[in-house]
Amino acid sequence: MTFLFNSDARRGAVFADAFAKELPDLPFEMDGATVDPDTVRYLITWTVPDNLARYRNLEILFSIGAGVDQFRFDAVPATVKIVRMVEEGIVRMMQEYVTLAVLALHRNLPGYLAQQRAGQWRDIPQPQAGSRRTGVLGLGQLGQAVLDRLKPFGFPLAGWSRSPRQIESVSCHHGKAGLEKMLAASDILVCLLPLTEETRGFLNADLFAKLPEGAALVHTGRGPQLDHQALVAALDSSHLSAAMIDVTDPEPLPAGHTFWSHPKIVMTPHVASVTQPATAAQAVIDNIKRHRAGLDPIGLVDRSRGY
Ligand code: NAP
Ligand code: GLV
Repeated sequence: MTFLFNSDARRGAVFADAFAKELPDLPFEMDGATVDPDTVRYLITWTVPDNLARYRNLEILFSIGAGVDQFRFDAVPATVKIVRMVEEGIVRMMQEYVTLAVLALHRNLPGYLAQQRAGQWRDIPQPQAGSRRTGVLGLGQLGQAVLDRLKPFGFPLAGWSRSPRQIESVSCHHGKAGLEKMLAASDILVCLLPLTEETRGFLNADLFAKLPEGAALVHTGRGPQLDHQALVAALDSSHLSAAMIDVTDPEPLPAGHTFWSHPKIVMTPHVASVTQPATAAQAVIDNIKRHRAGLDPIGLVDRSRGY
């Protein structure tokens, strides 16, 4: 039985140490070319390798990241469990990023940056946090953690998911009717949805039109969820006031793309949250122990839902 690590050597070294300490009976390999494929029971990777079929005894395919949209599910035998990354490092970084973004939009940072570049010294009217309604699309590991971190600032908080949820101090919505209700009351909208066939192109002109005048967007989901042209049109018409964008399609955007220089867009290169090797290794080790004990791993993907 072998664990095969198919990602960068720096993180691999941290994983190797942790595995040696906590699962000394499980050989840890980082070279798919030399490993005996029949021994591989666990594989961690970012994309599904073309030669996956050679691992005939594979039991769990782990994603090195929180998202699994980069996996081709149909290339993975139905007997293999697909597990996304749920680890405290990713969660903490996403809490930091979304808090940074919501506060930056709340305190008009894009507007002040534009004024600085234009040599202007003047204040922009500042609503109080208690009247800046903030809605989060996606109430999973990350959406819930982000809402939790935003609570002390006093923003009225709401969230939307597929199934009904209850979260203290958060107005929870679900389904189509719930979405409309939340959008109409979101001065700042945060997208933390996984990319699926249902969420591709989700942030589009129709959705933007349902947001209040002057609303702002934080996008930390996946690039293909956002209609770039629709966002630019909503910003240029001033229906939306600003956007903080961490993910685009493609990544990186080509030179000359409007987002690079748009005065109402702050863009970061898909860095909102990054898998942290020490905590990620621990999460994977814990999941292997759960699997060995006959329990489902944390972050088990439901293939029919796509996340
Ligand atoms: P998760 O735990 O699987 O949660 C997903 C949430 O989205 C759930 O609340 C789910 O609803 C909801 N959802 C999914 N499809 C929906 C739909 N069609 N309609 C309504 N709600 C829907 O995922 P997570 O760990 O929070 O991660 C979310 C995403 O963040 C990842 O998939 C990844 O794309 C992105 N991400 C980005 C970065 C970055 O650096 N930018 C880093 C990490 C992750 P239910 O609760 O009803 O299931
Ligand atoms: C990053 O985007 C991830 O999915 O972990």
